[in-house]
Amino acid sequence: MDYPFLISDICFSILLLLLPIVWHYVSPSWGQDEFALPLSFSQGESLGVLDYNLLDAVKIPLQDPKTQYVADSEDGFPAFGFKLGSDVKMARRQILPDTLSQEFAILISAKPRTKKGGFIFAIVNPMDTIVELGVRIAPETGAYTVLYLYYTDPSVDVNSHIIANFTVPKFNNKWVKFAFRVTLENITLFFNCTETETVLVHRNPLELVFDSASTLYLAQAGPVIGEPYEDRKFKGPQIMILMEDLKLYIELMPDTERKD
Ligand SMILES: *[C@@H]1O[C@H](CO)[C@@H](O)[C@H](O)[C@H]1NC(C)=O
Ligand SMILES: *[C@@H]1O[C@H](CO)[C@@H](O)[C@H](O)[C@H]1NC(C)=O
Ligand SMILES: *[C@@H]1O[C@H](CO)[C@@H](O)[C@H](O)[C@H]1NC(C)=O
Repeated sequence: MDYPFLISDICFSILLLLLPIVWHYVSPSWGQDEFALPLSFSQGESLGVLDYNLLDAVKIPLQDPKTQYVADSEDGFPAFGFKLGSDVKMARRQILPDTLSQEFAILISAKPRTKKGGFIFAIVNPMDTIVELGVRIAPETGAYTVLYLYYTDPSVDVNSHIIANFTVPKFNNKWVKFAFRVTLENITLFFNCTETETVLVHRNPLELVFDSASTLYLAQAGPVIGEPYEDRKFKGPQIMILMEDLKLYIELMPDTERKD
């Protein structure tokens, strides 16, 4: 695996200098994440960027303190912990718009606590059979694991599609920040502050329309697809994963309905 350029610890501040236009017109509140954003977001006709916090699906106070908890992340910010059997979900339309822009980015800061992998999040059709958009960590093999990005048009496909996969060092029990930058032609993975790999991907459609009744699941992909972030044979309050950040960045389109 090659790491073409190391952004290292100062990845955020360097990119702020490289992208002065973005920095000027967006709200500073998400400035530190912009290393992962498609460049087009700051150019031409772009109206701006919307960021959606998928962790808003965790209801406070916690609905089931046996399987959910709040912990400190590495940098002291609160993180959500998901234990075996946690069932966090929300109607997709309560939290996300109906259409994903052609280019988008997903940013995740998480600490898996199992080597078995599982879905970090999944937006699943009403029958719970197709992952429209999601990220899954594969079980560890040796020193590595694989990150999968799911992207499926629920109006034509009957099977979930993995549109990109990236092999990365295993990170069970470590906090890692990673991001997928999806542009018209490419998908780039940033892992642990390093731009690791770009793959050429032909996506169809370029603009994904979610099923109006799809569900956002956290730390699972719903009851049918299974492969939750857990080991069903394990008896006990196993911690599956902690998440500090789970954000989706999309380009503001004239008809985007902001969800707050
Ligand atoms: C990962 O993606 C490559 C194409 O980039 C594909 O050839 C390979 O089969 C995929 N692997 C898995 C496990 O999905
Ligand atoms: C992330 O990078 C740091 C510093 O480069 C390194 O010490 C750490 O092991 C890396 N984490 C993973 C999971 O590769
Ligand atoms: C896609 O990636 C290739 C190789 O990294 C690069 O040459 C090309 O400009 C990229 N295309 C876009 C639209 O970013």
